[in-house]
Amino acid sequence: MASIAPTAAPAPATFTADWLRLREPADHAARDAAAAAMGALGLAALRGTDAPRPSTPAAEARRVVDLGCGTGASLRYLAPRLGGEQHWQVFDQDEALLRAWPAAMADWARHAGHRLEVAGATLRIEGQGFCATAERHRLDLAHELGNVPLGSTDLLCATALIDLVSAGWLAELIGRARQTGVTLSLALMVDGRIEWDPAGAGDAEVALAFARHQGRDKGFGPALGAQAPEVASTLLANAGYTVMSARSDWLLHGGPLQAALIEGTAAAAIEQDPATAPATEAWRRLRTAAVGQTRLRVGHVDLIAVLPPGC
Ligand SMILES: C[S@@+](CC[C@H](N)C(=O)[O-])C[C@H]1O[C@@H](n2cnc3c(N)ncnc32)[C@H](O)[C@@H]1O
Repeated sequence: MASIAPTAAPAPATFTADWLRLREPADHAARDAAAAAMGALGLAALRGTDAPRPSTPAAEARRVVDLGCGTGASLRYLAPRLGGEQHWQVFDQDEALLRAWPAAMADWARHAGHRLEVAGATLRIEGQGFCATAERHRLDLAHELGNVPLGSTDLLCATALIDLVSAGWLAELIGRARQTGVTLSLALMVDGRIEWDPAGAGDAEVALAFARHQGRDKGFGPALGAQAPEVASTLLANAGYTVMSARSDWLLHGGPLQAALIEGTAAAAIEQDPATAPATEAWRRLRTAAVGQTRLRVGHVDLIAVLPPGC
């Protein structure tokens, strides 16, 4: 859920490394649920084959591009699952997030027992069954999409990004992807489902204002917000892609992410509709007081798109 970030600015959207760290466990659990629903076909589509490539020289590594890479959560999720040799080219406009990669990867490597080497803009992570190099690039994707080298790419990833972009920008991305035949992984797109258990006064009103805030221009034109999964599926199918999708919901039961979501949702709702500030503040106080006793489902969708053989 990209746009709930407590520090999100109207345009362009900004995200802190702390926010991305906070959401990463929920993101990965949600992606696991979607991957389980897609089954072996989903993983085979991501790998571009039925089995991981054996360790081969770097020249034959699987080539992955990650758009809006943040601090590298997609690599941390996908690299062990893809297996084999991988070379990632990752893009973000936010210099601070790109600089946070070595620390974020070092934490991950320490906990997972991987080996990390950092040399300038390039990182190399070696773990059980995989070896990934990553090259970081600063790029404003809203205006410089043409500078993303898709020509020799096997897999194009965008995680928690597509709900920030416009339909026109997404159509351009898919058009470029189609020309090269690259497989796409569009993960963690919000779909508008926000379900509190137990439900409470003000949930629907705050959710509505928040949804309108999500539709604001984040630098790419009017943002797709909750329409992202449907628009992406339609554009991809029209371009000849076979699309697999599954729900990747956040399932929260108290904790700091839920508390931060309450703050971020209230702030966005008030920014969108200042007249509702007293009611939204009352909602925020009630939800915060009850954070340990409530469950929250935030709806997302993961999608994998592959071109049928011969296309
Ligand atoms: C919600 S974060 C997701 C980050 C990462 N993919 C993850 O899953 O943790 C959205 C990312 O898109 C990046 N972003 C937003 N607008 C961008 C733009 N115009 N060009 C490049 N990156 C952009 C942000 O800096 C941020 O890293």
